[in-house]
Amino acid sequence: MKEINIQAPATIANLVCGFDVLGLCLDKPYDLMKVKLLDERKVIIRSEDGYPLPTEPTQNTAGAPLLEILSETNLTIGFEVTINKQIKPGSGIGSSAASAAGAVFAANCLMGNIYSKNDLVRLAMFGEKVASGVKHADNIAPCIFGGITLIRSIFPLDIVSISAPPLIITLVHPQIEVRTSDARQILRKEVLLKDAIRQWGNIAGLVAGLMKGDYELIGRSLEDVIIEPVRSMLIPGFDEVKELCKQAGALGGGISGSGPSIFMMSRDLQTASQVEKIMQDLYFKLDIPHHTYITTINPNGISVQNDDHFP
Ligand code: HSE
Repeated sequence: MKEINIQAPATIANLVCGFDVLGLCLDKPYDLMKVKLLDERKVIIRSEDGYPLPTEPTQNTAGAPLLEILSETNLTIGFEVTINKQIKPGSGIGSSAASAAGAVFAANCLMGNIYSKNDLVRLAMFGEKVASGVKHADNIAPCIFGGITLIRSIFPLDIVSISAPPLIITLVHPQIEVRTSDARQILRKEVLLKDAIRQWGNIAGLVAGLMKGDYELIGRSLEDVIIEPVRSMLIPGFDEVKELCKQAGALGGGISGSGPSIFMMSRDLQTASQVEKIMQDLYFKLDIPHHTYITTINPNGISVQNDDHFP
């Protein structure tokens, strides 16, 4: 096989209380990528979506992990990557992770699956380092494993897949840019013990609620007393969206990754549609351009496409 087409899905990192340790793979949106095997040691990045992202491989979230593959193998191969982003950069739904994870997943297929999923997460984190200055796996891991993942540890990697009952996810992306690096820099470096206790109670409650299929417990546990109070100040309308959506029957939700997207989880499509309407009405009232999605959990992560995205 000399080339491959893949879909690399969006992801929700943190899942409200699990900063840097929980992530969920979404059914849509997803990026389209084609990766070709070259017979010389180089990486070429092409972009077909018009986003002004760097195509210099060391500066590109797909390029950096592929350069890492070349540096740790002595094979005379290279990769040409063509990216058509459907996940807007800076939206908070794992745009950089989709490129990084998609690139290493596709390269691995072309190399005869020499890497494990954990290896792919390790390699893709080089892309997150380019994007935000920090290696974190809470978008990468769900993109590669699918479903919901707990990243118990990064060094060494310890990733646990968490089962979940059916959930409908409504997302709104207010079109303001929040850079992950900025959204990390504003966080306090120290946490009060009482807040830490509440937070780890919520993380444990959320994981238990997901695995038991206990919707009430999931809803009660979707609370963040550490990160959200700081970051929500960057997102106009955040408190109102959350309050109104919960009144309409959503289980709960919060900032997706580092924002500005906001997500809400519902048990059924009817509630999820009401939630979408609330989000649309509010951002219309605030005169902020926005985009909404109603989607579900993608249990498989990145998928191979037989159709050629880039004829
Ligand atoms: N856990 C990361 C953060 C995810 O919240 O900064 C960034 O998408």
